[in-house]
Order: sequence, then structure tokens, then C-alpha cells
Amino acid sequence: MNRYHDVLAKIGAGSAHPGGFSLTQKWAARLRLGPRSRVLDVGCGTGRTACYLAARFGCRVTGLDLHPLMIRKARRRARLEGVPVEFVEGDLLAPPFQDETFDWVVAESVTVFVPRQAAIEQYRRLLVPGGGVLDVEMAARHPLPSDAARAIEALYGVTELPSYREWEELYRNGGFSEVKILDARRLDLNQALRDEWNDPDRWAPRFTGTPDDPEVREVLEANTRLMDRHAKHLGYVALTARRSSIPASGGMPGRESPVGRSGAPRGNGLQSEEKPQPVKGEGQPPETIAATEKAQKSPG
Ligand SMILES: C[S@@+](CC[C@H](N)C(=O)[O-])C[C@H]1O[C@@H](n2cnc3c(N)ncnc32)[C@H](O)[C@@H]1O
Repeated sequence: MNRYHDVLAKIGAGSAHPGGFSLTQKWAARLRLGPRSRVLDVGCGTGRTACYLAARFGCRVTGLDLHPLMIRKARRRARLEGVPVEFVEGDLLAPPFQDETFDWVVAESVTVFVPRQAAIEQYRRLLVPGGGVLDVEMAARHPLPSDAARAIEALYGVTELPSYREWEELYRNGGFSEVKILDARRLDLNQALRDEWNDPDRWAPRFTGTPDDPEVREVLEANTRLMDRHAKHLGYVALTARRSSIPASGGMPGRESPVGRSGAPRGNGLQSEEKPQPVKGEGQPPETIAATEKAQKSPG
């Protein structure tokens, strides 16, 4: 078990992913979820997103997480909120569900922590043909300096943080098509504060620990140090992709289409700050991200 996740579980973090709850609301509005949609939230943490999707869109949501304390807190959240979300304790690398069970797999800051290809294989296995994945993950804005890479590995257990383009490629190579970047931008360290102000987590699980818990203190201090020194190298990407082998009709009769009625995936509706580069050989040169950033004068 990852120490960083232990601390998130103790704190009872509700939206422990880049872009925060406001990004969740934005992408969720684009998926056309409805009462017949079956959604799996992998690495669901304390269940804020899973409960939100069920309450807001009436869809059938299952949350899966490896961490027993996360699952306990998620179940409590669902009870308090009165939403019928099922939370399952288990490993997303060996998820206890049959093939083709879900219309959407949602992953928010999860895939980066596990062997990525193996995770993406599982997402594909669990999706119906034509089903969609939504993934929000931390990304390297440029090749990481070695001290940044070491700090990220030490705190998060993450090695070889993918770039924006590498996230796209992971999905393309993993049997997904129509990979669409909904949002790609550098980390915004004030996002969580703004979200908490605009949309507080009303059902936030309680802190379980003592105020002077040394593990919590250590991990949070290490996180602050890492962000102070290295946030400038980090961004995140929110993407959707569609499981390949699409039925000829491009949709699924009798069910909300995971990627749009036309069979087309959602567009780049969330206004990416950073333009992910096309895969090698497909056009723009690698300078594009840096050039875009400069042109947009993103805050330092
Ligand atoms: C950074 S947290 C994100 C939680 C949640 N998605 C959110 O946005 O608040 C990562 C979550 O992934 C879970 N996780 C890590 N490895 C996992 C695995 N192999 N199977 C299932 N869950 C896993 C952790 O327990 C943790 O809850």
C-alpha cells in the first residue's frame, strides 16, 4: 500500500486529483450519462465522484478501490448522501468484474500509480464495445529534471511520469480509438482552495488519525516541498477514449451512447491550456507545447 494513499485515506480527501472537483463536474457534463449508463470509478478513493455521478445523472455507479479505509469512507458517504453506489474493495489490476460490464470506466489520478498498460488493458476488458474511458492524470510538461523525478518517485511511488503525448499513446496502443484530450494544463495549486470555496465537499469523510500523526505530517510536508520545487514541471491531462471494435452503427441501441450519438467522441470542450502534441509523425513538432505555453503566458 502506498503511503501517500494512506494519508489521503486518513485525511478523507474527496477530490484527490489534478483539476479537482470542478474538473470532475466539467467532464461529467460532457459524457451524456443517464439512468441506464453503467459506470465504474476505478481508484474511487472516498467516493465523491462516484456519488456525484449517481446523484446528478442517476446512473448506476460502482466504485473500486484497493484501500479498505477509502472504501469504508466511501460507503459512509453514500449512506449519508442517500445514493445507491456500490463500493468494492479490490485491485484494478485484477478487478472482480466480468468482461464488458460497463459503459464507462472513470479513473481520476489512479492509472499513474499502477503499471499503466496493465491497467488500460483491464479498462478495455471491462468496457462494452464502443464504451468509453475517462482518465484524469498527472503528466510531465517536459522531460523531468532528475531531482524532480526522484522526488515524485519517493513521495508518490510514480516512475517515468508520462508526458501529455505519452498518455494519448498509452490509450491508442492499448486498444482504444478516438482518444480526445478534454483538458491539458499545468497544475494549479490553488484549485483545491477555490473548489472548496465554490463547492465544498458537504459529505467529506472525517479525518481518522490524531492531529499530530507523524505519517500525515511527513507526507503533507513532503508534498508541499515537492510542489514548491517542482510544480512548474507538472501538468495534467483529462482524456476520453473509446474502446475499439465499434459496432457499425456507432452507438449502442437502448442505452446512452458513451461517446455521443453521432458516434463521434466529445470534442476539446474544456479549453486545454496546453496543446498535447500529436503522435509522432502526425504533424506538429515537439516544440508545440512550449510554444503554446509561452504564447498563453501561463502563470509561473
Ligand atoms: C490519488 S487517489 C485518487 C482517488 C480518487 N479517484 C479521487 O480523485 O479523489 C488514488 C486512489 O487510487 C487507489 N488505488 C491505487 N492503486 C490501486 C489499485 N491497484 N487498485 C485500486 N485502487 C487503487 C488508492 O487507494 C487511492 O484511493
